[in-house]
Amino acid sequence: MLQKRIHYHSLMPNTRLDSRLLLRALIAFNIVLAVYNIITLQSNTSSKANPCLIVINTSKQTTNVHNSLQKGDFDDNVANSEMTPIDSKLYETKAITTEDKPINSSKINGEILNEKNKETIWWSTETRGSYTVLKNFVPSDESPDPMKSVTLTTQGTHSFLYHIENLCLRWDGHISVAVYSPGLDFPLVVNLIYYLRKCRNSCVREKTSWHMVYDSLFSPQSNTSFPSSYVEDMDFDCSQSYDELTNRFNTSFRSDHSLPYPINVVRNVARLNARTKYIFASDIELYPSVGIVSGFMQLLDRKMSGLVPVISGKNPHVYVIPIFEVKVGVTPPKNKTELKALMKTGNAIFFHKWVCDACQNFPDRNLWIDSIPTNHSLGIFRVTRRLRTRNTWEPLYIGTNDEPLYDERLSWDGKRDKMSQMYEMCLMSYDLAILDNAFLVHAPGIKHIDPKEEKKRLPFIKRNNMVYNTIMSKLRKKYGTKNQC
Ligand SMILES: *[C@@H]1O[C@H](CO)[C@@H](O)[C@H](O)[C@H]1NC(C)=O
Ligand SMILES: *[C@@H]1O[C@H](CO)[C@@H](O)[C@H](O)[C@H]1NC(C)=O
Ligand SMILES: *[C@@H]1O[C@H](CO)[C@@H](O)[C@H](O)[C@H]1NC(C)=O
Ligand SMILES: *[C@@H]1O[C@H](CO)[C@@H](O)[C@H](O)[C@H]1NC(C)=O
Ligand SMILES: *[C@@H]1O[C@H](CO)[C@@H](O)[C@H](O)[C@H]1NC(C)=O
Ligand SMILES: *[C@@H]1O[C@H](CO)[C@@H](O)[C@H](O)[C@H]1NC(C)=O
Repeated sequence: MLQKRIHYHSLMPNTRLDSRLLLRALIAFNIVLAVYNIITLQSNTSSKANPCLIVINTSKQTTNVHNSLQKGDFDDNVANSEMTPIDSKLYETKAITTEDKPINSSKINGEILNEKNKETIWWSTETRGSYTVLKNFVPSDESPDPMKSVTLTTQGTHSFLYHIENLCLRWDGHISVAVYSPGLDFPLVVNLIYYLRKCRNSCVREKTSWHMVYDSLFSPQSNTSFPSSYVEDMDFDCSQSYDELTNRFNTSFRSDHSLPYPINVVRNVARLNARTKYIFASDIELYPSVGIVSGFMQLLDRKMSGLVPVISGKNPHVYVIPIFEVKVGVTPPKNKTELKALMKTGNAIFFHKWVCDACQNFPDRNLWIDSIPTNHSLGIFRVTRRLRTRNTWEPLYIGTNDEPLYDERLSWDGKRDKMSQMYEMCLMSYDLAILDNAFLVHAPGIKHIDPKEEKKRLPFIKRNNMVYNTIMSKLRKKYGTKNQC
């Protein structure tokens, strides 16, 4: 049952440093695994512990690194039956089909392939409306176990990607990021990704997969080439900062062309390309408390054993994570004890308290602060609905790709981009289970309202409002009017 196969021979990174580090990491990892295996074998009483199998098969075709993987988990049919893409008729999306899983070998460490392998394209291209998507353009080095983890899915433009390091330092699962990168922003984004992978914490390259999204009218060049061909210098100077690298490119393609930010396109792309059943669609500036994924998987185990009766099996449901913000200069809290202390001193507040208090106002939220499970586990605080009385509540939640996608006609610039999704979930009778010991904190720093910026957004706001009304009447037709929503 205990198998270990390690084939290093075709790991051929461009830089020696890379290969040495990788080898060391693998060896260290393997030693830890060996110890873990011995322990789990000896204490056979804990039947939940799975034997570890690490397969690093780089024999020309395949490179798979799976942690705590049981053979059965690799079975595509298991995962696929759970993860049928929604709205596949609307878009020619091949999200989460057999073609995407298990990830094609050469995708891993794709950019460090040697010349011979350069004919192999590991990413796939998709058209969504007027946008082109390059899925898994820069994939993570490691693959998640589809059934035993939660992928944080998020999106951004070149100015926000530095947050990814903070996310992966706190999120104990994989991250799927879709980056809007039209025209000249594209090479900048690829360089930033390389910078983050090479120069920042190794969790970026291990756990983060990147997807590119651009207007089909503004593609980077007539033929998409390998990521490395956009990188100015593969031997990145890691002493430069993120901002220095950005400034060197001096591009403002998006604002020069007044392009709206297609936030719901990128949100959906990040979601649909996650390789786990459970996903957490969040924003790139929201830092999670630590240990959410492991706590959540334990919660699911308890639920399977019938130990979480508050969740009704009858209704569809998702798991809500409350959001906070902290004063400038305050380190975002990592656990609830820290958060509670900051709340008491006024250094932390509910997210958007001064801008849109209703947007994060959930039932009994003041009691939530004080209820810290003594056993440090993750459980359910309350089960509720997003009814009409809370129709501006925009919760973020752990769910699956069975939940409705975001409407891709709504842009970020036009505002109200998420509300129709919550309305739809009310019409579908979704239960919202609020987690008791998990939260998000907005990256410290206060956003200033720029009147010029607001004026620029006006035409987009008008457009979103029109689209919004169409969506609402379509939804009412589909599900019937439910006054309580
Ligand atoms: C490694 O992958 C190759 C190609 O997929 C396969 O033929 C070979 O049996 C694998 N080796 C091991 C040890 O799993
Ligand atoms: C995987 O990569 C190989 C080349 O390494 C290619 O021949 C094959 O078609 C790819 N498979 C998929 C499903 O993309
Ligand atoms: C783009 O790729 C196609 C097929 O590989 C090739 O025939 C064509 O010449 C390329 N165009 C340019 C501008 O490189
Ligand atoms: C950036 O580009 C603009 C023109 O697009 C130019 O005026 C400006 O001087 C450039 N800045 C730097 C630092 O090169
Ligand atoms: C929360 O974090 C503090 C400070 O980092 C630590 O002392 C404490 O043990 C943590 N509490 C829990 C429940 O993990
Ligand atoms: C932790 O304690 C709560 C009650 O405070 C209980 O509902 C939950 O099941 C416990 N979790 C574990 C893992 O024991």
